Amino acid sequence: MAYKNLIVDKKEGIGFIKINRPKVLNALNSETIKEITKVVCELENDKKIKVAILTGEGKAFIAGADISSMANMTPLEAKEFAKLGHIMLNKIERSRIPFIAAVNGFALGGGCEILQACDIAIAAKSAKLGQPEINLGIHPGFGGTQRLPRLVGIMKAKELLLTGRNIDGDEAFNIGLVNMVVEDDQLMETAEDIAGKIAGKSSVQIQFIKELVNTGLDIDLNSANSLEISYFSSGFSTYDQKEGMKAFLEKRKPIFKGK
Ligand code: CAA
Repeated sequence: MAYKNLIVDKKEGIGFIKINRPKVLNALNSETIKEITKVVCELENDKKIKVAILTGEGKAFIAGADISSMANMTPLEAKEFAKLGHIMLNKIERSRIPFIAAVNGFALGGGCEILQACDIAIAAKSAKLGQPEINLGIHPGFGGTQRLPRLVGIMKAKELLLTGRNIDGDEAFNIGLVNMVVEDDQLMETAEDIAGKIAGKSSVQIQFIKELVNTGLDIDLNSANSLEISYFSSGFSTYDQKEGMKAFLEKRKPIFKGK
């Protein structure tokens, strides 16, 4: 499928999505948001794809929602726009495929919110992250007031949301907003290395782990642990469980089939 605002590639079980609006620092207008939602569906429907990497073209990951397209929105249009953003982020979060955000530069506003819906985030040393919406007289509309406190804690989230201050890769790592910080020229290599490791695992278990962590965090601990028992037991009906344990006992690498 051809996309106007994205560069999409597939290689060895990994889907690559690059936001391609560098003139506006990859700002998200409705069209780009819809395209991202669509490409997540496309990758999900391709059974060869087990993991995806999301990054941006040029000096930004994503500098936020497109301010020029938002400036004159009516409340109703703003509601529809925020809903589109939430649909996109829910799609990423609930996808069977883990998403790795390779944060190559500015990840502000909606850009920072996108990485919060990803499963793993790697920041380049020079990246700048934050929720500067308050400087525009608004607050985050793509889940930043909700996912950010869950990720970094209530006090730190409120500080970032209330001051609109940008942070660098190291600070993002220190507060738990990204998994690691790497030299700029190591970013894609690191993302591909992690993606490659995931691509070698059982796609059944990749999906189970995502579902368990995401669902479990929204329900009480007892129910969440019961859910784990139920997923754990159903794992024993799969080829991949038999193969994984057999390979261990035979001292060889498992070959998972995702069934
Ligand atoms: N929307 C639309 N255009 C944007 C943009 C955005 N979020 N961010 C940058 N651009 C455009 C600029 O207007 C500029 O366009 P022109 O060349 O036509 O003037 C171009 O991208 C390059 O940007 P700058 O010249 O500003 O680049 P810089 O290096 O000097 O500054 C920056 C970079 C600090 C990221 C600055 O561009 C900036 O502050 N951008 C806005 C960041 C922001 O506020 N994001 C939050 C948006 S609101 C949101 O996301 C709401 C939500 O939760 C849904």
